[in-house]
Amino acid sequence: MSFVTFSPLDITDTEFLQIRRLVYDLCGINLTDGKKELVKTRLGKRIRNGPFKSFQDYYQYVLSDESGQELVHMLDSITTNYTFFFREQGHFDYLRQNVLPELIRKRKMTERKLRFWSAACSSGEEPYSIAITILESIEQPYLWDISVLATDISTKVLKVAETGIYPASRLQNLTDSLTKKYFLKGEGAWKDYMKVKDELRKLVQFRRANLIEPFDPPQPFDCIFCRNVMIYFDKKTQRELIHRLYECLNEGGILLVGHSESLIGIEHPFKYVRPSVYRK
Ligand SMILES: C[S@@+](CC[C@H](N)C(=O)[O-])C[C@H]1O[C@@H](n2cnc3c(N)ncnc32)[C@H](O)[C@@H]1O
Repeated sequence: MSFVTFSPLDITDTEFLQIRRLVYDLCGINLTDGKKELVKTRLGKRIRNGPFKSFQDYYQYVLSDESGQELVHMLDSITTNYTFFFREQGHFDYLRQNVLPELIRKRKMTERKLRFWSAACSSGEEPYSIAITILESIEQPYLWDISVLATDISTKVLKVAETGIYPASRLQNLTDSLTKKYFLKGEGAWKDYMKVKDELRKLVQFRRANLIEPFDPPQPFDCIFCRNVMIYFDKKTQRELIHRLYECLNEGGILLVGHSESLIGIEHPFKYVRPSVYRK
C-alpha cells in the first residue's frame, strides 16, 4: 500500500485572470500577479472540498449562483481578516488624548451624541476597542447617545463580530481591569473564551457594506477608522473611497488609516494631521 500527498490544483493564467477581474469588479481588491499562489492555495482548498473539477468549473459556478452565497465564500477565502484588539495602539491613544476630549467638550453643550464608523471591521475587535475607548473617556456615558457602526464585506467575520465571543488569548492587549469590566468569562466548554458584555455590545451596530459601493450613512460620523483595507485597492479605488469617506464625515471629523497606509499620491481634500491621521 502506498500513499501520496494531494497535489495542489493547478490554475492556468486565464483562470487566474478571470478570478482577478471578478474580485476587482466586486470588491476592488487588486490581486497582483504575485497573488496567484495565494489564490491557488486558498481557493484551491475550497474547490477540492466541493464538487468542482477545476478553477474554470468553480468560476462558472460563482457566476451562475444567483443566491450570491458562493461569491461571499470566494471573497472570504481570498481576503485577509487579520485583526486584534487595540491594533495600532497609537490610534486609540490619539482618540483618548485628542479626538474625544475635543468632541466631548463641544457636544456637552449641545447634542450629547458621538458617531463612529469602523469601516472594514473584520471580526469586531476594532469597533469594540473603539467603544471601550469611548466609554473609558466619558464620565457619565449613559447620558450620551453613542454609536459605533461596524461594517465589512465578509458575512463570515460579521457573524463572529456579532456574537462578541473571542478566545481569551486574543485579549492580551487589554489590561485585567478592562477585561473584567467589559467581558464575561466563559465556563465549562467555553472556559477559554470571553464574551463582550451587553453594555459594550449595544453600542456597536454591525452591517454588511462594500467599500467600493456608495454608502449612505444614517448620520455623518465624527471619526472613521478605515484601516488595513486600502492596501488591497489600486490608486483609483483608493481615491474614490477617500472622497466618499470625506462626504460621510462631519466638519472637523477625523479619518484614521492603517499605520502602513497613507494618502500620499492620492488627490484628496483632507488636512494632514500626523502620519495616518487626517481631518476634514
Ligand atoms: C486586514 S482586515 C482589517 C481589520 C481592521 N480594520 C484592522 O485594521 O485590524 C481587512 C478587512 O477588510 C475587509 N474588506 C476587504 N475588501 C472590502 C470591501 N470592498 N468592502 C468592505 N470590506 C472589505 C475584509 O473582509 C477584512 O475583514
